[in-house]
Amino acid sequence: DKKKSLEGKTVLITAGPTYEAIDPVRFIGNHSSGKMGFSLAEEAAKRGAKVILISGPSSLKSTHQNIDLHRVTSAKEMLNKVFEYYDTIDIGIASAAVADYAPKVVASEKIKKNEDTFSIELIKNPDILKTMGEKKSHQFLVGFALETQNEEENAKGKLAKKNLDMIVLNSLRDEGAGFKNDTNKIKIFTKTEKLEFDLKSKENVAKDILDCIETQLLK
Ligand code: PMT
Repeated sequence: DKKKSLEGKTVLITAGPTYEAIDPVRFIGNHSSGKMGFSLAEEAAKRGAKVILISGPSSLKSTHQNIDLHRVTSAKEMLNKVFEYYDTIDIGIASAAVADYAPKVVASEKIKKNEDTFSIELIKNPDILKTMGEKKSHQFLVGFALETQNEEENAKGKLAKKNLDMIVLNSLRDEGAGFKNDTNKIKIFTKTEKLEFDLKSKENVAKDILDCIETQLLK
């Protein structure tokens, strides 16, 4: 039997949205389904990797025996779970759409509708991927950038600022890209290269991303 290309590697993947509680009933969230992250997890597992998949609320299930799935709700829970494993991983891929802000205070009871206007004070969440970049030693780190304008410039900025080895750009200006869809259209940037891909199923996008990671690891 041919040795599988990611055998012996441990890959950590974040997926899905995070939900930040407002009260026991409501939360702040986003449209991520988890599909991109779960597709990456399935493909990495098929290639022989041990996969740690840390997902925010998603209706998707993982089936492959190489995938160790941890379900979390908020950004803080995702951060804590990532750092339970961070020292042991070879590759980290951050495909989660993490809420940048969370309510400063979570109401313990359901908030009543009394006033005509109502404000919630938000406080910055930890940046999970940036923290991974700051603590990077041997890990190969891959981020995503979900953009709506100045896409390439923003993606390259995140590559540098978060101390990444690679970043995957998807733009909401491209039809069929980003969340909700079963397809995505990506560009990949390393410190020196730029690769552009066609619109594809997220399963095939996951293959392109992992091919690219494997090529980089061989350099
Ligand atoms: O789940 P799907 O419906 O399949 O959709 C897939 C996707 C569109 C969510 C995915 O392809 C994607 O783009 N994920 C990243 C979304 C995002 O939040 O991008 P960003 O540009 O805001 O963040 C940049 C990077 O930092 C990302 O790798 C993100 O995971 C990470 N981040 C951001 C904020 C934060 N507090 N912690 C983080 O780790």
